[in-house]
Amino acid sequence: MCGIVGFVGKNFKVKDVVDSLKRLEYRGYDSAGIAYIRNGELHVFKSVGKIDELRNLLGENLESDLNSGIAHTRWATHGAPNDMNAHPHTDCTGKVAIVHNGIIENFRELKALLEGLGHVFKSDTDTEVIAHLIEEEYRGNLLEAVLKAVRRLDGAYAIGVVHSDHPDVVVAARRGSPLVIGIGSDFSLLASDITPMLRYTKKFIFLEDGDIALLKGDEVQIFRTDGESVRRATREIDWSESAAEKGGYKHFMIKEIMEGPQTLVSAMTGRMKDGIVSIPELEELKLSNVSRINVVACGTSYHAAVFFKYFVEQHTDIDISVEVASEFRYRRPHVDNKTLTLAISQSGETADTLESIRLAKRLGSEIMSITNVVGSTITRESDISIMMNSGPEIGVAATKTYVAQLAILTLLGLQLVKEKGSWSGRHKRILDNLIRMPELFENVLSLNDQIRDLATKYKDFNHFMYIGRSYGYVTALEGALKLKEISYIHAESYPAGELKHGPIALLDPQFPVFAVVPSDSLYLKMKSNLIECKARNARIVALGTGDNEELKNLTDDFISVPRVVDELYPLIMAPVIQLFAYHVADLKGYDPDKPRNLAKSVTVE
Ligand code: M6R
Repeated sequence: MCGIVGFVGKNFKVKDVVDSLKRLEYRGYDSAGIAYIRNGELHVFKSVGKIDELRNLLGENLESDLNSGIAHTRWATHGAPNDMNAHPHTDCTGKVAIVHNGIIENFRELKALLEGLGHVFKSDTDTEVIAHLIEEEYRGNLLEAVLKAVRRLDGAYAIGVVHSDHPDVVVAARRGSPLVIGIGSDFSLLASDITPMLRYTKKFIFLEDGDIALLKGDEVQIFRTDGESVRRATREIDWSESAAEKGGYKHFMIKEIMEGPQTLVSAMTGRMKDGIVSIPELEELKLSNVSRINVVACGTSYHAAVFFKYFVEQHTDIDISVEVASEFRYRRPHVDNKTLTLAISQSGETADTLESIRLAKRLGSEIMSITNVVGSTITRESDISIMMNSGPEIGVAATKTYVAQLAILTLLGLQLVKEKGSWSGRHKRILDNLIRMPELFENVLSLNDQIRDLATKYKDFNHFMYIGRSYGYVTALEGALKLKEISYIHAESYPAGELKHGPIALLDPQFPVFAVVPSDSLYLKMKSNLIECKARNARIVALGTGDNEELKNLTDDFISVPRVVDELYPLIMAPVIQLFAYHVADLKGYDPDKPRNLAKSVTVE
């Protein structure tokens, strides 16, 4: 996830800005850069790679004093990770410099318009349009120019801007991406989170969406996009830097689960137009011609693939197969030039998934991928790649990226439906529910304490049986994987209908069942399975929907999420299974961020 810092006032040196930027390294990045104003001149340095490479580039300039400065760590979304695309970006006059976190949805239209007016672009980024827009709107007042520029932006942004005609000023604005201001005695600071500012101040203002701030010395004025002045409360926060990296949470895993609403927004941003799904990455592909899809993935990504299979089968006539990549690559798959192969991989580097797409390509298949890492090998070897835009996931267990995968796959499924000409009211309802999902997620995340109590009750069991049907089975698969990989409890996942074909023999009071039982079309079937489990004296935790008295009576513990369309239960239930696994691991004294024997990216067989 990109990181921003900004400095104005006091006697800061360039190295102070760079040192602060280093405190954002934990967010992950592929390039870094700085713009600062000294003696009325704008200086810009940027470099692909680590901040230490930026330091080398700056050399003795590190000791220079500055009036104001902004710096950035970039996690590529638009344009490859290279020097040219690294932030800050400048306008044609070389007076404006800008750093940006987020995605500008209408950048193509704006770029065409600005090029028509004679602006010359130097990068492939969406960000650069903002610098040129500010130049276009500038009439001597930087704040006014930024106000006018951001009114023309669609999408998400957190920005920091400097202008060489205004050496003692930094202008900041946010919509959809976080931005915090730090207040000192004769200076003010700006950053994506409080971590890099804690060594200078404990006083912070958290900007709200639609805020624009003018920072000058220790004076901070805040306005809304329409120009109206507003006051925001100053909060005192006395965290350590390492607590701040984790947003005050004990582990990255829980921080990343709690980032679910923002993850959903980032996954959906720019992929809907006028209330209809429209994924720009798919423009090159004639989806209406697709008759067969082959999906390859591993682990959690495989579970997202199973969801996609159910969705595509239910809503289209497309023939779809889903394969665990380590199996696919050693078989004789029926893949040809009429098959679209979809690889799902958070890291974009998983060896088995990579070899599977290479095999599919040799067989003539076109390759599409969904990954979270721009420039990863799978992305580079794909014909079309869709980015998750989740920002780096630091906990080894996939959490927010699973959420992003499910959201993007829902959009992809809906786009297939649209292109196949079978769009209906049902699909509109799915899309409407998906759009509401960030808000519904807040509701589910507020169950955190209840889930911790549940984890306290069940943490000492040695086994768990996760069951579900249809979309509920997807949640069972992922729930069992999450529990086993971080808490080391043996957890099985079965389609509930399979229980009586063998696994039910395992059940007894020491082998609890985690049942995924939404009030969907298979509810009554699930109820019968629960009665069977109870007959074996198994304890049951039921993950259901609404205020279901029947389930409460039938089971030992009931946890409920809001009702949505059946297709979206894997998504809305994801935080529950993730939080349950997280709390069990934490209560057992394990580090959920670094589970034993596991790596974040599995680049070997
Ligand atoms: O990077 P990928 O999505 O390709 O990784 C696939 C699996 O290795 C990954 O999902 C793994 O199962 C995680 N430990 C899940 O939490």
